[in-house]
Amino acid sequence: MSIRSETRKERNTRKTLILIPPNPMASSSIPIREPHSTPKPNLHSVPASMALAAAPSTHFPLSLSRKPPLLTPSAAASVAPAHLEIPALAFDHKLVVSGGRQLSGHVHISGSKNAALAVLAGSLCCAAGPAVIRGVPDLSDTRTMAAVLRSVGARVEEAGGGEVVVDATRVSSVEPSPDDVGRIRAGFFVLGPLVARFGEAEVALPGGCKIGARPIDLYVRGLSALGAVVELRHGKVRVRAANGKGLIGGQFHLDYPSVGATETLMMAASMAEGVSVLSNVAREPEVADLAQFLVACGACIEGAGTGTLVITGRKQLHGAEFTIAPDRIEAGTFMVAAAITRSCISLSPVIPYHLSCMIDKLSTAGCRITLRGPGILEISAVPAATGGDLQGFYLKTSPYPGFPTDLQPQFMALLATCNGSSIVEESVFENRMHHVEELQKLGARIKLHGSTALVEGRKPRSLALSGCPIAAADLRGGAALVLAGMAAEGVTEVGGVAHIDRGYENFEPKLLSLGAEIRREVTPNSYL
Ligand code: EPZ
Repeated sequence: MSIRSETRKERNTRKTLILIPPNPMASSSIPIREPHSTPKPNLHSVPASMALAAAPSTHFPLSLSRKPPLLTPSAAASVAPAHLEIPALAFDHKLVVSGGRQLSGHVHISGSKNAALAVLAGSLCCAAGPAVIRGVPDLSDTRTMAAVLRSVGARVEEAGGGEVVVDATRVSSVEPSPDDVGRIRAGFFVLGPLVARFGEAEVALPGGCKIGARPIDLYVRGLSALGAVVELRHGKVRVRAANGKGLIGGQFHLDYPSVGATETLMMAASMAEGVSVLSNVAREPEVADLAQFLVACGACIEGAGTGTLVITGRKQLHGAEFTIAPDRIEAGTFMVAAAITRSCISLSPVIPYHLSCMIDKLSTAGCRITLRGPGILEISAVPAATGGDLQGFYLKTSPYPGFPTDLQPQFMALLATCNGSSIVEESVFENRMHHVEELQKLGARIKLHGSTALVEGRKPRSLALSGCPIAAADLRGGAALVLAGMAAEGVTEVGGVAHIDRGYENFEPKLLSLGAEIRREVTPNSYL
Protein backbone atom coordinates (compact mmCIF):
# COMPACT_ATOMS: atom_id res chain seq x y z
CA MET A 1 0.00 0.00 0.00
CA SER A 2 1.70 3.25 -1.10
CA ILE A 3 1.85 6.34 1.06
CA ARG A 4 -1.06 8.66 0.45
CA SER A 5 -0.23 12.28 1.15
CA GLU A 6 -2.95 14.69 2.24
CA THR A 7 -4.94 16.26 -0.64
CA ARG A 8 -5.69 20.07 -0.44
CA LYS A 9 -9.37 19.13 0.20
CA GLU A 10 -8.39 16.89 3.16
CA ARG A 11 -6.12 19.62 4.60
CA ASN A 12 -8.96 22.19 4.44
CA THR A 13 -11.47 19.72 5.88
CA ARG A 14 -8.97 18.76 8.62
CA LYS A 15 -8.48 22.45 9.64
CA THR A 16 -12.19 22.94 10.24
CA LEU A 17 -12.46 19.57 11.92
CA ILE A 18 -9.75 20.13 14.53
CA LEU A 19 -8.79 23.56 15.81
CA ILE A 20 -10.74 26.64 16.98
CA PRO A 21 -8.08 29.39 17.43
CA PRO A 22 -8.62 30.97 20.92
CA ASN A 23 -6.85 34.21 19.96
CA PRO A 24 -7.56 37.13 17.51
CA MET A 25 -3.90 37.05 16.45
CA ALA A 26 -4.59 33.71 14.78
CA SER A 27 -4.87 33.90 10.99
CA SER A 28 -5.36 30.91 8.70
CA SER A 29 -3.14 32.54 6.09
CA ILE A 30 -0.05 31.98 8.26
CA PRO A 31 2.07 29.23 6.61
CA ILE A 32 3.61 27.32 9.47
CA ARG A 33 5.21 24.24 8.21
CA GLU A 34 8.55 24.19 6.46
CA PRO A 35 11.14 21.42 6.37
CA HIS A 36 14.17 21.96 8.57
CA SER A 37 17.69 22.42 7.19
CA THR A 38 19.41 22.00 10.52
CA PRO A 39 22.68 19.99 10.08
CA LYS A 40 22.90 16.70 11.99
CA PRO A 41 25.07 17.14 15.12
CA ASN A 42 28.33 15.16 15.28
CA LEU A 43 27.83 12.11 17.52
CA HIS A 44 30.65 11.15 19.87
CA SER A 45 31.78 7.47 19.98
CA VAL A 46 34.36 5.12 21.54
CA PRO A 47 36.02 1.79 20.37
CA ALA A 48 33.47 -1.07 20.21
CA SER A 49 34.95 -2.90 23.23
CA MET A 50 34.54 0.18 25.45
CA ALA A 51 31.15 1.15 23.90
CA LEU A 52 29.68 -2.19 24.91
CA ALA A 53 31.05 -1.64 28.41
CA ALA A 54 29.62 1.91 28.31
CA ALA A 55 26.08 0.89 27.25
CA PRO A 56 23.75 2.61 29.75
CA SER A 57 21.85 -0.63 30.51
CA THR A 58 25.05 -2.45 31.41
CA HIS A 59 26.14 -2.07 35.03
CA PHE A 60 29.45 -0.16 34.94
CA PRO A 61 32.12 -2.70 35.97
CA LEU A 62 34.06 0.01 37.75
CA SER A 63 36.39 -2.81 38.68
CA LEU A 64 37.70 -2.77 35.12
CA SER A 65 41.28 -4.09 35.48
CA ARG A 66 42.65 -1.03 33.76
CA LYS A 67 40.67 2.12 33.12
CA PRO A 68 40.57 2.60 29.33
CA PRO A 69 42.75 5.50 28.11
CA LEU A 70 40.74 8.74 28.27
CA LEU A 71 39.86 9.80 24.74
CA THR A 72 39.13 13.35 23.62
CA PRO A 73 35.75 13.54 21.86
CA SER A 74 37.35 14.08 18.44
CA ALA A 75 39.78 11.15 18.94
CA ALA A 76 36.82 8.98 20.05
CA ALA A 77 34.79 10.06 17.04
CA SER A 78 37.57 9.10 14.62
CA VAL A 79 38.00 5.47 15.81
CA ALA A 80 34.48 3.99 16.03
CA PRO A 81 31.50 3.53 13.70
CA ALA A 82 29.31 6.66 13.75
CA HIS A 83 26.22 4.81 14.98
CA LEU A 84 27.81 4.00 18.33
CA GLU A 85 26.61 6.86 20.52
CA ILE A 86 28.29 7.04 23.90
CA PRO A 87 26.00 7.91 26.81
CA ALA A 88 26.49 11.32 28.43
CA LEU A 89 27.95 9.53 31.42
CA ALA A 90 31.41 9.26 29.88
CA PHE A 91 31.85 12.98 29.36
CA ASP A 92 30.67 15.95 31.38
CA HIS A 93 29.24 18.72 29.28
CA LYS A 94 28.86 22.20 30.61
CA LEU A 95 27.88 25.49 29.02
CA VAL A 96 30.07 28.45 29.88
CA VAL A 97 28.10 31.68 29.54
CA SER A 98 29.50 35.22 29.72
CA GLY A 99 26.69 37.55 30.66
CA GLY A 100 25.73 41.13 30.02
CA ARG A 101 25.53 40.94 26.22
CA GLN A 102 22.52 42.08 24.19
CA LEU A 103 21.16 39.81 21.46
CA SER A 104 20.03 40.70 17.94
CA GLY A 105 19.03 38.97 14.73
CA HIS A 106 16.71 36.09 13.86
CA VAL A 107 16.41 32.55 15.24
CA HIS A 108 14.87 29.54 13.50
CA ILE A 109 12.43 27.56 15.65
CA SER A 110 12.63 23.78 15.34
CA GLY A 111 9.76 21.33 15.18
CA SER A 112 8.02 20.61 18.47
CA LYS A 113 9.80 17.99 20.61
CA ASN A 114 6.65 16.86 22.37
CA ALA A 115 4.57 16.73 19.18
CA ALA A 116 7.33 14.81 17.40
CA LEU A 117 7.58 12.27 20.23
CA ALA A 118 3.81 11.69 20.16
CA VAL A 119 3.68 11.42 16.35
CA LEU A 120 6.64 9.01 16.31
CA ALA A 121 4.77 6.85 18.83
CA GLY A 122 1.67 7.24 16.63
CA SER A 123 3.56 5.88 13.61
CA LEU A 124 3.16 2.43 15.22
CA CYS A 125 -0.52 2.71 14.29
CA CYS A 126 0.40 2.59 10.59
CA ALA A 127 -0.11 -1.05 9.63
CA ALA A 128 -0.25 -0.32 5.90
CA GLY A 129 2.60 1.76 4.59
CA PRO A 130 5.32 3.90 6.15
CA ALA A 131 4.89 7.28 7.83
CA VAL A 132 7.05 10.13 6.53
CA ILE A 133 7.40 12.65 9.34
CA ARG A 134 9.07 16.02 8.71
CA GLY A 135 10.21 18.67 11.16
CA VAL A 136 11.45 16.13 13.73
CA PRO A 137 14.07 17.93 15.87
CA ASP A 138 17.38 16.11 16.31
CA LEU A 139 17.46 15.58 20.07
CA SER A 140 18.53 12.80 22.42
CA ASP A 141 14.82 12.27 23.21
CA THR A 142 13.77 11.79 19.59
CA ARG A 143 16.71 9.45 19.06
CA THR A 144 15.61 7.48 22.11
CA MET A 145 12.09 7.27 20.71
CA ALA A 146 13.52 5.94 17.46
CA ALA A 147 15.27 3.25 19.53
CA VAL A 148 11.94 2.39 21.22
CA LEU A 149 10.31 1.94 17.79
CA ARG A 150 13.21 -0.14 16.47
CA SER A 151 13.05 -2.36 19.55
CA VAL A 152 9.59 -3.60 18.51
CA GLY A 153 10.69 -4.22 14.95
CA ALA A 154 9.77 -0.96 13.21
CA ARG A 155 12.21 0.28 10.58
CA VAL A 156 13.21 3.88 11.34
CA GLU A 157 15.22 5.82 8.80
CA GLU A 158 16.48 9.27 9.73
CA ALA A 159 16.73 10.84 6.31
CA GLY A 160 18.32 14.07 7.59
CA GLY A 161 16.95 17.62 7.64
CA GLY A 162 14.38 16.57 10.22
CA GLU A 163 12.76 13.89 8.02
CA VAL A 164 12.14 10.51 9.65
CA VAL A 165 10.54 7.58 7.82
CA VAL A 166 8.97 4.94 10.04
CA ASP A 167 7.85 1.62 8.55
CA ALA A 168 5.84 -0.17 11.22
CA THR A 169 4.23 -2.67 8.85
CA ARG A 170 6.38 -5.49 10.22
CA VAL A 171 6.29 -4.81 13.96
CA SER A 172 7.36 -8.09 15.57
CA SER A 173 7.14 -7.44 19.31
CA VAL A 174 4.78 -5.82 21.79
CA GLU A 175 7.49 -5.37 24.44
CA PRO A 176 9.61 -2.31 23.67
CA SER A 177 13.09 -2.18 25.23
CA PRO A 178 12.64 -1.20 28.90
CA ASP A 179 15.92 0.75 28.92
CA ASP A 180 14.81 3.06 26.14
CA VAL A 181 11.27 3.45 27.50
CA GLY A 182 12.79 4.15 30.90
CA ARG A 183 14.73 7.12 29.55
CA ILE A 184 11.83 9.26 28.36
CA ARG A 185 8.18 9.80 29.37
CA ALA A 186 6.88 9.53 25.82
CA GLY A 187 8.32 6.04 25.38
CA PHE A 188 5.33 4.85 27.41
CA PHE A 189 2.86 6.31 24.90
CA VAL A 190 3.52 3.34 22.52
CA LEU A 191 1.30 1.31 24.84
CA GLY A 192 -1.76 2.74 23.05
CA PRO A 193 -0.94 1.78 19.44
CA LEU A 194 0.55 -1.61 20.43
CA VAL A 195 -2.42 -2.88 22.45
CA ALA A 196 -4.91 -1.47 19.92
CA ARG A 197 -3.13 -3.11 16.96
CA PHE A 198 -2.10 -6.44 18.55
CA GLY A 199 -4.55 -6.86 21.44
CA GLU A 200 -1.73 -6.88 24.01
CA ALA A 201 1.44 -5.08 25.08
CA GLU A 202 3.97 -5.00 27.90
CA VAL A 203 5.71 -1.69 28.50
CA ALA A 204 8.11 -0.61 31.23
CA LEU A 205 7.20 2.29 33.48
CA PRO A 206 8.26 5.59 31.86
CA GLY A 207 11.26 7.82 32.58
CA GLY A 208 11.51 11.56 31.96
CA CYS A 209 12.16 14.70 34.01
CA LYS A 210 11.96 14.27 37.79
CA ILE A 211 9.40 17.04 38.28
CA GLY A 212 6.73 15.18 40.22
CA ALA A 213 5.27 11.75 40.94
CA ARG A 214 3.92 11.52 37.37
CA PRO A 215 1.55 8.58 38.01
CA ILE A 216 -0.08 6.56 35.20
CA ASP A 217 -3.51 5.94 36.78
CA LEU A 218 -5.34 7.76 33.95
CA TYR A 219 -3.66 5.54 31.31
CA VAL A 220 -4.64 2.42 33.27
CA ARG A 221 -8.25 3.45 33.88
CA GLY A 222 -8.65 4.81 30.36
CA LEU A 223 -7.48 1.56 28.74
CA SER A 224 -9.75 -0.42 31.07
CA ALA A 225 -12.65 1.72 29.82
CA LEU A 226 -11.71 0.58 26.29
CA GLY A 227 -12.06 -3.07 27.22
CA ALA A 228 -8.52 -3.85 28.37
CA VAL A 229 -7.20 -5.74 31.39
CA VAL A 230 -4.23 -3.90 32.87
CA GLU A 231 -1.68 -5.29 35.32
CA LEU A 232 1.42 -3.72 36.83
CA ARG A 233 4.08 -6.40 37.37
CA HIS A 234 7.82 -6.06 38.05
CA GLY A 235 7.89 -2.45 36.91
CA LYS A 236 6.08 -3.21 33.69
CA VAL A 237 2.53 -2.50 32.61
CA ARG A 238 0.97 -5.52 30.95
CA VAL A 239 -2.19 -4.82 28.95
CA ARG A 240 -4.40 -7.18 26.96
CA ALA A 241 -7.83 -6.95 25.37
CA ALA A 242 -10.33 -8.60 27.72
CA ASN A 243 -12.06 -10.27 24.79
CA GLY A 244 -8.75 -11.70 23.63
CA LYS A 245 -9.13 -9.88 20.32
CA GLY A 246 -9.17 -6.11 20.39
CA LEU A 247 -10.21 -2.97 22.20
CA ILE A 248 -13.83 -1.85 22.29
CA GLY A 249 -14.87 1.81 22.06
CA GLY A 250 -16.11 3.31 25.35
CA GLN A 251 -16.50 6.44 27.44
CA PHE A 252 -13.84 7.80 29.76
CA HIS A 253 -13.63 11.07 31.68
CA LEU A 254 -10.10 12.11 32.64
CA ASP A 255 -9.89 13.47 36.18
CA TYR A 256 -7.07 15.68 34.95
CA PRO A 257 -6.43 16.75 31.31
CA SER A 258 -3.18 14.78 31.11
CA VAL A 259 -1.30 15.28 27.81
CA GLY A 260 0.28 11.83 27.71
CA ALA A 261 -2.85 9.96 28.81
CA THR A 262 -4.94 11.82 26.19
CA GLU A 263 -2.45 11.03 23.41
CA THR A 264 -2.12 7.35 24.41
CA LEU A 265 -5.90 6.81 24.72
CA MET A 266 -6.55 8.70 21.47
CA MET A 267 -4.19 6.34 19.61
CA ALA A 268 -5.79 3.30 21.27
CA ALA A 269 -9.35 4.42 20.54
CA SER A 270 -8.44 5.14 16.89
CA MET A 271 -8.26 1.38 16.32
CA ALA A 272 -10.87 0.19 18.85
CA GLU A 273 -14.14 -1.26 17.61
CA GLY A 274 -16.90 1.36 17.68
CA VAL A 275 -17.07 4.89 19.05
CA SER A 276 -15.15 6.27 22.03
CA VAL A 277 -15.87 9.50 23.87
CA LEU A 278 -12.97 10.87 25.91
CA SER A 279 -13.87 13.91 28.01
CA ASN A 280 -11.82 16.47 29.97
CA VAL A 281 -8.93 15.67 27.64
CA ALA A 282 -5.80 17.78 27.14
CA ARG A 283 -6.11 20.57 24.57
CA GLU A 284 -2.40 21.19 24.04
CA PRO A 285 -1.34 21.94 20.42
CA GLU A 286 0.86 18.83 20.56
CA VAL A 287 -2.28 16.71 21.13
CA ALA A 288 -3.95 18.41 18.16
CA ASP A 289 -0.85 17.72 16.05
CA LEU A 290 -1.02 14.02 16.88
CA ALA A 291 -4.73 14.01 16.04
CA GLN A 292 -3.99 15.64 12.69
CA PHE A 293 -1.37 12.99 11.95
CA LEU A 294 -3.75 10.13 12.87
CA VAL A 295 -6.49 11.64 10.70
CA ALA A 296 -3.99 11.76 7.83
CA CYS A 297 -3.46 8.03 8.50
CA GLY A 298 -7.18 7.37 8.14
CA ALA A 299 -8.39 7.77 11.73
CA CYS A 300 -11.72 9.47 12.52
CA ILE A 301 -11.20 11.94 15.35
CA GLU A 302 -13.39 14.91 16.15
CA GLY A 303 -12.87 17.60 18.73
CA ALA A 304 -9.06 17.71 19.03
CA GLY A 305 -8.10 21.03 20.59
CA THR A 306 -11.33 21.00 22.57
CA GLY A 307 -12.08 19.24 25.89
CA THR A 308 -13.90 16.27 24.34
CA LEU A 309 -12.76 13.77 21.71
CA VAL A 310 -15.20 11.63 19.74
CA ILE A 311 -13.29 8.83 18.01
CA THR A 312 -14.73 6.25 15.62
CA GLY A 313 -12.36 3.30 15.55
CA ARG A 314 -10.90 1.99 12.30
CA LYS A 315 -9.75 -1.60 11.66
CA GLN A 316 -6.45 -0.39 10.22
CA LEU A 317 -4.56 2.83 9.69
CA HIS A 318 -2.20 3.54 6.79
CA GLY A 319 0.99 5.51 6.29
CA ALA A 320 0.96 9.24 5.58
CA GLU A 321 3.19 12.27 5.21
CA PHE A 322 3.09 14.80 8.01
CA THR A 323 4.99 17.88 9.17
CA ILE A 324 5.34 18.62 12.88
CA ALA A 325 4.25 22.06 14.11
CA PRO A 326 6.91 24.50 15.40
CA ASP A 327 7.95 24.16 19.04
CA ARG A 328 6.02 26.75 21.09
CA ILE A 329 8.15 26.02 24.18
CA GLU A 330 11.40 26.61 22.29
CA ALA A 331 9.85 29.80 20.85
CA GLY A 332 8.86 30.93 24.36
CA THR A 333 12.38 30.18 25.60
CA PHE A 334 13.95 32.43 22.94
CA MET A 335 11.40 35.17 23.65
CA VAL A 336 12.60 35.08 27.27
CA ALA A 337 16.22 35.16 26.01
CA ALA A 338 15.41 38.50 24.35
CA ALA A 339 13.54 39.84 27.37
CA ILE A 340 16.14 38.81 30.00
CA THR A 341 18.96 40.45 27.98
CA ARG A 342 16.76 43.49 27.18
CA SER A 343 17.22 42.82 23.47
CA CYS A 344 15.25 42.79 20.24
CA ILE A 345 15.14 39.60 18.13
CA SER A 346 12.80 37.92 15.68
CA LEU A 347 11.87 34.25 15.51
CA SER A 348 10.08 31.93 13.07
CA PRO A 349 8.25 29.79 12.26
CA VAL A 350 5.72 30.26 15.04
CA ILE A 351 1.96 29.84 15.35
CA PRO A 352 1.01 33.00 17.25
CA TYR A 353 -2.07 31.71 19.03
CA HIS A 354 0.01 28.83 20.45
CA LEU A 355 2.02 31.57 22.19
CA SER A 356 -0.82 33.74 23.41
CA CYS A 357 -0.09 33.27 27.13
CA MET A 358 3.60 34.07 26.72
CA ILE A 359 2.82 37.09 24.52
CA ASP A 360 0.33 38.31 27.10
CA LYS A 361 2.75 38.00 30.04
CA LEU A 362 5.71 39.52 28.22
CA SER A 363 3.56 42.41 27.00
CA THR A 364 2.38 42.94 30.57
CA ALA A 365 6.04 43.12 31.65
CA GLY A 366 6.62 45.83 29.08
CA CYS A 367 7.98 44.01 26.02
CA ARG A 368 6.83 45.09 22.60
CA ILE A 369 5.75 42.08 20.48
CA THR A 370 4.94 42.41 16.80
CA LEU A 371 3.88 40.01 14.06
CA ARG A 372 6.35 40.77 11.27
CA GLY A 373 4.73 38.48 8.73
CA PRO A 374 3.22 34.98 8.43
CA GLY A 375 4.70 33.02 11.32
CA ILE A 376 7.38 35.66 12.07
CA LEU A 377 7.36 37.28 15.50
CA GLU A 378 9.55 40.12 16.78
CA ILE A 379 10.07 40.82 20.46
CA SER A 380 11.77 43.90 21.84
CA ALA A 381 12.68 44.55 25.44
CA VAL A 382 15.13 47.32 24.67
CA PRO A 383 14.32 49.98 27.28
CA ALA A 384 14.68 52.78 24.74
CA ALA A 385 12.06 51.09 22.56
CA THR A 386 9.72 50.00 25.34
CA GLY A 387 9.92 53.21 27.33
CA GLY A 388 11.44 51.77 30.50
CA ASP A 389 12.52 48.60 32.19
CA LEU A 390 10.50 45.44 32.60
CA GLN A 391 8.05 45.04 35.47
CA GLY A 392 7.26 41.94 37.48
CA PHE A 393 3.95 40.11 37.17
CA TYR A 394 1.96 37.14 38.50
CA LEU A 395 1.85 33.83 36.71
CA LYS A 396 0.26 30.49 37.42
CA THR A 397 0.83 27.45 35.27
CA SER A 398 -2.12 25.37 34.10
CA PRO A 399 -3.11 23.07 31.23
CA TYR A 400 -3.47 24.65 27.77
CA PRO A 401 -4.70 27.22 26.94
CA GLY A 402 -3.33 28.24 30.35
CA PHE A 403 0.33 29.22 30.95
CA PRO A 404 2.62 26.27 30.07
CA THR A 405 4.46 24.65 32.95
CA ASP A 406 7.36 24.02 30.50
CA LEU A 407 8.09 27.77 30.50
CA GLN A 408 7.73 28.36 34.23
CA PRO A 409 11.49 28.11 35.04
CA GLN A 410 12.50 30.40 32.15
CA PHE A 411 9.93 33.05 33.15
CA MET A 412 11.04 32.82 36.79
CA ALA A 413 14.61 33.58 35.73
CA LEU A 414 13.29 36.62 33.84
CA LEU A 415 11.25 37.82 36.80
CA ALA A 416 14.39 37.80 38.95
CA THR A 417 15.72 40.56 36.67
CA CYS A 418 12.52 42.66 36.49
CA ASN A 419 11.48 45.56 38.71
CA GLY A 420 9.11 44.86 41.57
CA SER A 421 7.83 41.63 43.09
CA SER A 422 6.28 38.70 41.28
CA ILE A 423 4.51 35.48 42.22
CA VAL A 424 4.94 32.22 40.33
CA GLU A 425 2.55 29.37 41.08
CA GLU A 426 3.30 25.92 39.66
CA SER A 427 0.02 23.98 39.60
CA VAL A 428 0.71 21.21 37.07
CA PHE A 429 3.69 19.41 38.64
CA GLU A 430 4.23 19.20 42.37
CA ASN A 431 8.03 19.18 42.29
CA ARG A 432 9.13 21.55 39.52
CA MET A 433 11.21 24.08 41.44
CA HIS A 434 14.72 22.54 41.26
CA HIS A 435 15.97 25.65 39.39
CA VAL A 436 15.17 27.97 42.33
CA GLU A 437 18.20 26.98 44.40
CA GLU A 438 20.50 27.47 41.40
CA LEU A 439 18.98 30.87 40.59
CA GLN A 440 19.49 31.84 44.24
CA LYS A 441 23.20 30.98 43.84
CA LEU A 442 23.28 33.61 41.06
CA GLY A 443 21.80 36.11 43.50
CA ALA A 444 18.11 35.86 42.61
CA ARG A 445 15.89 36.85 45.52
CA ILE A 446 13.33 34.04 45.56
CA LYS A 447 11.36 32.67 48.51
CA LEU A 448 9.75 29.29 47.96
CA HIS A 449 6.55 28.12 49.67
CA GLY A 450 5.82 24.65 48.34
CA SER A 451 5.04 25.20 44.64
CA THR A 452 4.68 28.97 44.95
CA ALA A 453 7.65 31.29 44.59
CA LEU A 454 7.80 34.92 45.66
CA VAL A 455 10.34 36.62 43.39
CA GLU A 456 11.79 39.91 44.57
CA GLY A 457 13.02 41.64 41.40
CA ARG A 458 16.30 43.46 40.99
CA LYS A 459 17.37 46.33 43.17
CA PRO A 460 17.41 49.72 41.34
CA ARG A 461 20.52 50.39 39.20
CA SER A 462 22.08 46.98 39.82
CA LEU A 463 22.47 43.81 37.83
CA ALA A 464 20.28 41.32 39.74
CA LEU A 465 22.50 38.33 39.02
CA SER A 466 26.21 37.45 39.09
CA GLY A 467 27.77 34.37 37.51
CA CYS A 468 29.01 31.21 39.28
CA PRO A 469 28.96 27.42 38.67
CA ILE A 470 25.44 25.95 38.78
CA ALA A 471 23.82 22.74 37.52
CA ALA A 472 20.64 21.75 35.70
CA ALA A 473 18.40 19.06 37.23
CA ASP A 474 15.89 18.90 34.38
CA LEU A 475 15.32 20.08 30.82
CA ARG A 476 13.44 23.38 31.21
CA GLY A 477 15.21 24.27 34.45
CA GLY A 478 18.47 23.87 32.53
CA ALA A 479 17.37 26.28 29.81
CA ALA A 480 16.36 28.81 32.50
CA LEU A 481 19.84 28.67 34.06
CA VAL A 482 21.52 29.40 30.72
CA LEU A 483 19.20 32.39 30.17
CA ALA A 484 19.93 33.64 33.70
CA GLY A 485 23.64 33.29 32.96
CA MET A 486 23.20 35.52 29.90
CA ALA A 487 21.78 38.25 32.16
CA ALA A 488 24.31 37.79 34.95
CA GLU A 489 27.49 39.71 35.55
CA GLY A 490 30.61 37.68 34.75
CA VAL A 491 30.79 33.99 33.85
CA THR A 492 28.21 31.32 34.67
CA GLU A 493 29.07 27.62 34.21
CA VAL A 494 25.98 25.47 33.74
CA GLY A 495 26.49 21.73 34.35
CA GLY A 496 24.05 18.88 33.63
CA VAL A 497 23.77 19.93 30.00
CA ALA A 498 22.55 16.47 29.00
CA HIS A 499 19.17 17.56 30.32
CA ILE A 500 19.11 20.53 27.92
CA ASP A 501 20.22 18.39 24.98
CA ARG A 502 17.11 16.29 25.50
CA GLY A 503 14.83 19.11 24.38
CA TYR A 504 16.65 21.93 22.56
CA GLU A 505 18.08 21.37 19.06
CA ASN A 506 21.36 23.29 18.56
CA PHE A 507 20.69 25.42 21.63
CA GLU A 508 24.05 27.09 21.95
CA PRO A 509 24.69 27.54 18.18
CA LYS A 510 21.36 29.35 17.97
CA LEU A 511 22.24 31.56 20.96
CA LEU A 512 25.68 32.21 19.47
CA SER A 513 24.07 33.28 16.18
CA LEU A 514 22.08 35.87 18.17
CA GLY A 515 25.27 37.26 19.71
CA ALA A 516 25.36 35.47 23.05
CA GLU A 517 28.78 34.55 24.45
CA ILE A 518 28.42 30.85 25.19
CA ARG A 519 30.53 27.76 24.63
CA ARG A 520 30.30 24.09 25.42
CA GLU A 521 33.06 22.45 27.38
CA VAL A 522 33.37 18.69 27.33
CA THR A 523 35.46 17.13 30.04
CA PRO A 524 35.96 13.40 30.72
CA ASN A 525 33.60 12.37 33.52
CA SER A 526 35.72 12.49 36.69
CA TYR A 527 33.88 9.46 38.11
CA LEU A 528 35.18 7.04 35.46
C1 EPZ B 1 3.66 16.25 28.83
O1 EPZ B 1 4.04 15.40 29.92
C2 EPZ B 1 4.97 16.85 28.31
N1 EPZ B 1 5.84 15.78 27.88
C3 EPZ B 1 5.64 17.65 29.43
O2 EPZ B 1 6.79 18.30 28.89
C4 EPZ B 1 4.70 18.73 29.91
O3 EPZ B 1 5.27 19.37 31.02
C5 EPZ B 1 3.36 18.10 30.34
O4 EPZ B 1 2.81 17.31 29.28
C6 EPZ B 1 2.33 19.16 30.71
O5 EPZ B 1 2.13 20.05 29.70
C7 EPZ B 1 5.62 15.20 26.69
O6 EPZ B 1 4.73 15.50 25.95
C8 EPZ B 1 6.59 14.13 26.29
P1 EPZ B 1 0.70 15.20 32.03
P2 EPZ B 1 2.99 14.38 30.56
O7 EPZ B 1 0.32 13.77 31.98
O8 EPZ B 1 2.12 13.84 29.51
C9 EPZ B 1 -0.84 14.19 36.36
C10 EPZ B 1 9.04 18.96 28.75
O9 EPZ B 1 9.73 19.69 29.46
N2 EPZ B 1 -1.21 12.82 35.90
O10 EPZ B 1 -0.16 16.18 31.32
O11 EPZ B 1 3.74 13.43 31.39
C11 EPZ B 1 0.67 14.36 36.50
O12 EPZ B 1 1.16 13.85 37.68
C12 EPZ B 1 8.08 17.95 29.40
O13 EPZ B 1 9.06 18.98 27.52
C13 EPZ B 1 -1.94 11.99 36.74
O14 EPZ B 1 -2.27 12.37 37.86
O15 EPZ B 1 2.19 15.38 31.51
C14 EPZ B 1 0.85 15.85 36.42
O16 EPZ B 1 0.71 16.43 37.67
C15 EPZ B 1 8.20 17.91 30.87
N3 EPZ B 1 -2.24 10.75 36.30
C16 EPZ B 1 -0.28 16.26 35.50
O17 EPZ B 1 -1.17 15.15 35.39
C17 EPZ B 1 -1.88 10.29 35.06
O18 EPZ B 1 -2.18 9.14 34.72
C18 EPZ B 1 0.19 16.66 34.11
O19 EPZ B 1 0.88 15.61 33.55
C19 EPZ B 1 -1.15 11.14 34.22
C20 EPZ B 1 -0.82 12.42 34.66
